[in-house]
Amino acid sequence: MSKVYVFDHPLIQHKLTYIRDKNTGTKEFRELVDEVATLMAFEITRDMPLEEIEIDTPVMKAKTKVLSGKKMAIVPILRAGIGMVDGILKLIPAAKVGHIGLYRDPETLKPVEYYAKLPADVEERDFIIVDPMLATGGSAVEAINSLKTRGAKSIKFMCLIAAPEGVQAIQEAHPDVDIYIAALDEKLNDHGYIVPGLGDAGDRLFGTK
Ligand code: URA
Repeated sequence: MSKVYVFDHPLIQHKLTYIRDKNTGTKEFRELVDEVATLMAFEITRDMPLEEIEIDTPVMKAKTKVLSGKKMAIVPILRAGIGMVDGILKLIPAAKVGHIGLYRDPETLKPVEYYAKLPADVEERDFIIVDPMLATGGSAVEAINSLKTRGAKSIKFMCLIAAPEGVQAIQEAHPDVDIYIAALDEKLNDHGYIVPGLGDAGDRLFGTK
């Protein structure tokens, strides 16, 4: 069963409040999402493996630790996921970035992939799929399917706000994929919005309607 990690660090919770606030304009919204993505990246990389190397400090030789060169990739789900990429890259600058685009089929209402571009060495990378909102979970489940079909073995899912319905959908379809969120909200409303949520993340990030 996927584990769910809620990052309740005070800085994340503080910034998330202003992200939720409808009076926060596009510029500030974008900056705050970027900052929260950086803070979440700090938490999500806690289990990165280290190895010991020997260096010379100005005083003496010392055995110290460095990251053991794990290959990472960030995959935003278009388009709102893009708003979280730069914030993560601030801490993991060598990560590759893939993209997955999905649209909702008007008849089946199911997400259908229209775009996917991933790093070549999919099987060797640790993937973090990002999307600010985990609502029904349809897109997240499909994005994970898409990565797995192409050979991905290690996938995490990261979002700002999740609805219980979305968490359950990932857990049922992909019990090997852990979920990292800043807040678990109450539910979805009849229009598919997370409540209390933050509205449409894509529109708020890009200033569209
Ligand atoms: N996508 C959004 O942008 N907001 C929601 O509340 C649900 C899905």
